[in-house]
Amino acid sequence: EKGTYPYYMLKEIDEQPVVMRKIVQKYQTIDGEIAIDQDLLTTLKSSDRVYIVACGTSSHAGWASKKFFETLTHLPVEIHLSSEFGYNMPLLSKKPFFIYLSQSGETADSRQVLVKTNELGHPSLTITNVAGSTLSREATYTLLLHAGPEIAVASTKAYTAQIAVMAVLAKALGTEKGIANAVEFDLFHELGLIATAMETMINEKEHLEELTANYLSATRNAFYIGRGNDYYVSMEAALKLKEISYIQAEGFAAGELKHGTIALIEEGTPVIGIITDAVTGQHTRGNLQEVKSRGANTLVISSEGLAKPDDQILLPTVHPLLTSLLAVVPTQLIAYFATLQRGYDVDKPRNLAKSVTVE
Ligand code: M6R
Repeated sequence: EKGTYPYYMLKEIDEQPVVMRKIVQKYQTIDGEIAIDQDLLTTLKSSDRVYIVACGTSSHAGWASKKFFETLTHLPVEIHLSSEFGYNMPLLSKKPFFIYLSQSGETADSRQVLVKTNELGHPSLTITNVAGSTLSREATYTLLLHAGPEIAVASTKAYTAQIAVMAVLAKALGTEKGIANAVEFDLFHELGLIATAMETMINEKEHLEELTANYLSATRNAFYIGRGNDYYVSMEAALKLKEISYIQAEGFAAGELKHGTIALIEEGTPVIGIITDAVTGQHTRGNLQEVKSRGANTLVISSEGLAKPDDQILLPTVHPLLTSLLAVVPTQLIAYFATLQRGYDVDKPRNLAKSVTVE
């Protein structure tokens, strides 16, 4: 039930800190260890590559997990769109392991790939919000998101829950493999800090509503830009914005703009930069300068420690491997307010269903 909330999406955005804490509670044993099936870890340990297969927001959660998964486990990770992968399967590694990310566990595009990888005899894990869902039943292993029902078509808390559960898995596997990065990473503590930082962002609603009105009220298109993890969050931020507010939005690798897309920048085009990494952030700032000098209305979401005085949205500082969990929150609220301000139905955008059960 959405209770006093006008829309499920807003309720689900607000629930994210609670979901982070719930994941800690569900995946932590009483002696502070990680509760993950030993058989799953043994299978992953003998694999040579992880293939994440997913659609839409869930595929973006895969991208947001790549860096920390590789850092903590030393296993290469590839992310693929289900609808492409099934019919254009790349040359696989010798011992592939498949991870299906799916909030609903019912997405037909993902299922058709799972059927094929099952036929090939490859081990698989479904990470889903729905126990007993099709993808859960048909995969070798399942990990649950514990995010509670997600009703709004625009996925929010499932995205952050997927990243958090991927981090739990990476920490468990890396520790099992004795990799120092993983052993030393106090993940449950960091997720607690993320939950608190999410609350800080969620309490910024009025500020975000005002910025959205100033930057997005009259526009037909908008760009999110970033590099690395900030690029992956940009893809998710843009999907959220376009799917419910109908603003034509693209998430772009900041450095790639000048190879074509910068031609679209006109007087007043909103360009939102995401900066949570010191090294790439400097380059993204350069790219923001380039579009600004061509008339763009630039807005910056940056981590506090890296912020410049004019940056409009400040993210509390959290662990560098997990910044996506936090950076996405203001972009979810921007999509929500842009949609409200345009007078559209936030929870039920046109032409879309919550669960896509046709290929
Ligand atoms: O249930 P799934 O996670 O498999 O769904 C995948 C996509 O259909 C879903 O994430 C979709 O992109 C959302 N509407 C985005 O907000």
